[in-house]
Amino acid sequence: MTALNVGIIGTGWCGGIRAEVCAASPYVGALHLAEIKEARLREVADKTKPATVTTDYRTLLENQNIDAIIISATPETTHYPMAKESLLAGKHVFLEKPIALELSEADELIDISHSKGLLFTIGYSQRFNPKFAYVKRAIDDGTIGQPVSALVSRHITRNLGNKIGGRIKLSPAAMEATHDIDFVLWCFAPRRPVRVYAQEVRKIMQPVHGVPDCVWIIVTLDDGCAFTIGAGWVLPPAYPNFSSTWIEMVGTEGAIMVDDTHRDVTLNTMKRGIEFPISTMPGEKVAHVYAGPMEAETIHFLECVALNRQPLVTPEHARMVMQVYQAADKSAEEGRPIDILPSELPSRRPLPRQADSIKSVTADRS
Ligand SMILES: NC(=O)c1ccc[n+]([C@@H]2O[C@H](COP(=O)([O-])OP(=O)(O)OC[C@H]3O[C@@H](n4cnc5c(N)ncnc54)[C@H](O)[C@@H]3O)[C@@H](O)[C@H]2O)c1
Repeated sequence: MTALNVGIIGTGWCGGIRAEVCAASPYVGALHLAEIKEARLREVADKTKPATVTTDYRTLLENQNIDAIIISATPETTHYPMAKESLLAGKHVFLEKPIALELSEADELIDISHSKGLLFTIGYSQRFNPKFAYVKRAIDDGTIGQPVSALVSRHITRNLGNKIGGRIKLSPAAMEATHDIDFVLWCFAPRRPVRVYAQEVRKIMQPVHGVPDCVWIIVTLDDGCAFTIGAGWVLPPAYPNFSSTWIEMVGTEGAIMVDDTHRDVTLNTMKRGIEFPISTMPGEKVAHVYAGPMEAETIHFLECVALNRQPLVTPEHARMVMQVYQAADKSAEEGRPIDILPSELPSRRPLPRQADSIKSVTADRS
């Protein structure tokens, strides 16, 4: 097995998790970190012992030995330029959601990745939550028949709402519901979205950050099935970065109810009162094990690069998710349903990125 050289741009919350996973992975020969906050760079470097560190991410792109780049930087305006430069430098790319701010940017990134035969995937980490994977499998193996309708309710704390709202004017549809739009469209595939209706609430975050508190979205699919997603970021603190999710997936032969509200473990201390530990969306290390999806997701990307495999999340799917949350934003703004035309969706052609066409990691270095 060829040991990979992996670079990470932005070692904040998610990038720090990804750096620790890479440092512990036998797939990774050398880790390279780029972070503009020097104190945070030192903190993550102390834990992960990288081969190189830099405050200028372009140093990673110039390094011919680096095979793959994980982009975990904020604000989200950095995603498109960093991904574009990384792909143009010949690196496989894992990019945290959102894929870009505009559909045209997403198209450009997808085109570059295809033309250069590079892997390009987006961080829809909830697909690696075992409870979500269970729902998908129950559809794929016929246990609940064909999905008919679904509901996902996802809410996170206002600490996180403030963190996100303080850096960018993206809605809870674009930043939170996006995970569930990705997941439900994946479950309902090959059906595709044709209409989106959404309403937002603006009571708490509007005066501070000019963003909504929450959004409720109804998506209609091309066979008449429909699903609804609610997402918000104004829950009171219950743990640093607490998240609470509930799923109802109803099929022709059965239904699955998923409680991912993280109320199964409670901690009660004199100092902080009741908290729900291990309740964040990416998850966290708990002594010798990892609780949550981000470790498995990061390992999956490393495996795909090392073994020339197509990652689970295609950028075409991420683009379709973007169309839905952009339509949700527009619907909430204009107070009417928004149609998505089939001609606006990515084509149904098979993915061009078959294993043979993916640039060999070994060949890349020789
Ligand atoms: N999948 C999930 O569960 C999940 C959870 C949270 C966030 N996210 C996504 O991950 C991304 C990162 O979120 P986060 O909470 O880790 O953010 P964060 O703000 O904690 O970390 C981002 C880091 O990027 C660094 N950075 C900014 N510009 C840089 C540059 N030019 N070069 C190098 N580093 C730079 C910042 O200094 C910061 O440390 C977001 O875009 C968000 O959408 C995903």
